[in-house]
Amino acid sequence: MVSMKAIETIAEMKQARRALAGPVGFVPTMGYLHEGHLELVKRAKKENTTAVVSIFVNPIQFGPKEDFQKYPRDIPRDLAMLESVNTDFVFLPQAAEIYPPGFDTWVEIGKVTERLEGAARPGHFRGVATVVAKLFNIVGPARAYFGQKDAQQCVVIKKMVKDLNMPLEVVIVPTVREADGLAMSSRNVYLTPEERRQAAVLYQALTLAQGLYVQGEREASRIRQQMTALIQKQPLARIEYISITDTEILEELAIVKAPALVSLVVRFGTTRLLDNVVLE
Ligand code: PAF
Repeated sequence: MVSMKAIETIAEMKQARRALAGPVGFVPTMGYLHEGHLELVKRAKKENTTAVVSIFVNPIQFGPKEDFQKYPRDIPRDLAMLESVNTDFVFLPQAAEIYPPGFDTWVEIGKVTERLEGAARPGHFRGVATVVAKLFNIVGPARAYFGQKDAQQCVVIKKMVKDLNMPLEVVIVPTVREADGLAMSSRNVYLTPEERRQAAVLYQALTLAQGLYVQGEREASRIRQQMTALIQKQPLARIEYISITDTEILEELAIVKAPALVSLVVRFGTTRLLDNVVLE
C-alpha cells in the first residue's frame, strides 16, 4: 500500500494534482476529525481514483467573538485517522499562504446566506465560500464531499458551484450520529458530561418533528411548539432557533410541504449545537 502524502504548500498541492490521472474526490475539513469526516473520505475513495483531504481552520469564517483560537486541533491524531481510511493526500496549508498580505477577494452568496446560520453568524458563509472556492481551485476535484449536518453550508456550496459554473459535483453525505443520536461534531468536545447527556435532546426533538409530520401535522408552528417543549425539559439547553424551511432557498414555511428542512441550534453553556433532518 502506498502511504498517505502530507502536503503543506499550494505549489506542491497543485503540482501533485497535475500528476494525477483520474478523478479526485475532495473533502475539505477544519480537522479534529471524527467518524463523520471519515464517512466523507470513504465515499470520496469509493467514487474517485484519488482522495484528497484538507485540514485548515479557516480564520475568516469565525466571528470576532467566536471560537477560532480555542477550536480543537490535533494534527497527529487526524493524520492517523486519515491514514486508516487510505486517504491519498492531506493538504495542510498555512493561513499566511491562503491569505497573504493584500488578499482582498471574497465570494458572497446571496439570499440563502442571510438566514439561519447566516443571520446568527454574520460573514460566516462569505468566509466558508471564499476558502472553499480557493481550495477547489488548488485541489481541482471532480467531486467534493460535505456532511448533511451543516445543511445550510451544503445549500450555499451547491449554489456557488452552480452560479459560478465550477466544474465539479457536490456530494452530500448523511449525518453520522452517536449511539444516543447526537450528531458527530468536532465541537462536541466542549460539552461537560452533563451537557453531553442532555444534548441527546436535539435529535429527540428532530425525531419528534418527523413523527408529527408522518402523523399528518402540517402546521410548522405546532411542530416548533412541541419541539420547544421537549427541549426545554433539559435544564441546560437554551434554544437559539428552530426552523422549518424549504430545502432550496431556506425560506420559513407556515405549512410544511416536503421536502422540508427542520433545523435547530441549541446552546449548552457557550457551545452551539446544530442539527437537522429533512422531512421527505
Ligand atoms: O465544514 C467545515 O468544516 C468548514 O466550514 C469547511 C467546509 C472545511 C470550510 O472551512
